[in-house]
Amino acid sequence: MNRIAPKGKGELSVDGKAMARGGLAPWTYFNEELNAVEKDILFRRHWQIACHVSDVPGKGDFITFDMCGERAIVMRGKDDQVRAFHNLCRHRGSRVLSEAKGTCRHVITCPFHAWVYNMDGTLRKAAAAETLPELDPVKHGLKPIEMEVWHGLVFIRFLPGPQPSVAELFAQREEEVAPYHLDEMVNSGGGFYEQEMPINWKAVRDVDNEGYHVPIAHPSLQDLYGPNYYDEPLENGTSRSHGYLTETPGKLWSVRHYKKLLPEVSGHSEENKRAWLYLGLYPNTVIGLYPTSTIFYQEYPISAGRTIQRSAAYRYKEETREMRATRYLAERIDGLTGVEDTQLIEWSCEAMESSAFDGIILSDLEQNVRAYHDAFRDSIPVMQLEDAPAPNTVAALNAEMSAETSD
Ligand code: FES
Ligand SMILES: [Fe+2]
Repeated sequence: MNRIAPKGKGELSVDGKAMARGGLAPWTYFNEELNAVEKDILFRRHWQIACHVSDVPGKGDFITFDMCGERAIVMRGKDDQVRAFHNLCRHRGSRVLSEAKGTCRHVITCPFHAWVYNMDGTLRKAAAAETLPELDPVKHGLKPIEMEVWHGLVFIRFLPGPQPSVAELFAQREEEVAPYHLDEMVNSGGGFYEQEMPINWKAVRDVDNEGYHVPIAHPSLQDLYGPNYYDEPLENGTSRSHGYLTETPGKLWSVRHYKKLLPEVSGHSEENKRAWLYLGLYPNTVIGLYPTSTIFYQEYPISAGRTIQRSAAYRYKEETREMRATRYLAERIDGLTGVEDTQLIEWSCEAMESSAFDGIILSDLEQNVRAYHDAFRDSIPVMQLEDAPAPNTVAALNAEMSAETSD
């Protein structure tokens, strides 16, 4: 077995001498068997943002969220509690709720044979109950999904996984996040935006995890914070990137007006009152904290070559004219950046299929790409291999290599 250059934290050095500069092997971006392993080990077993509490503001309000073969409902019950369930009827597995979001008036009725569930997930009654064995309201209720609300963001985890609680994961960022009062924000777009991309999900992370491309590829961000941007690579499951607005007035219309209108929001630290702060959560999520708005985005695979990027934006309930205007301008800048990134992601992913592709050479400014690749190789050791394993062996080989590592 040929393994890619050995990894190790020590290799990520600031002087660049010791850093291994290669990336993941190309096969890891195209292999469906590996994709199935990723869905299981990375996506089902790591925390995912489902929504914000303001997406389910009233009793009976719900959102649904499908990811990697899993289907979730987040619903606010009659008791005002927010809960997460599998969107899976206990009779024959139908979705019990089919809309992306909505309000349940009283009970949840499965559209297939009309089993009825209470808003806390318990089974209320089955249609023609006398034709069925005795059913227990809890045992046969909608299966709960592990859930944690952190600063208003609702995180779910479909299966038990290696990460600690979300609060623990972000403990080192707590002091910085608290002044944003995220829990008091509301969805500014009314829902979630989903974009399907014809590439492997890791290609999105590879582009998003570094700022080396900002000066050339993102004129707006360069105009906004340019040389004041830096990335702190992944450590204990989270990464941090920070761009402090430059003093220049801004050449581009959106940036110029953003800088001019940006109000001082009370409570923000000196470092963050004129900065865009991005917190990365391994393996696939970013929370963007801007002075007058917040966003999150996450990417997850449909297959090895198809990815969904899902995002949402949030605003403060009470907004001044300047807050509203700068939120709008930030969305506009993000929109342009997103289009620019999509092109780069597609180009870099398709390059790996070219006969001329000879691996990548990472700059010191791309340490976070390397940090994520190391983390992927830790989570799924088979990704250390230079060549794709023989067909039908990826999952078994990975299990073997994982056992070897944990010995
Ligand atoms: S599948 Fe839900 S009632 Fe039959
Ligand atoms: Fe980018």
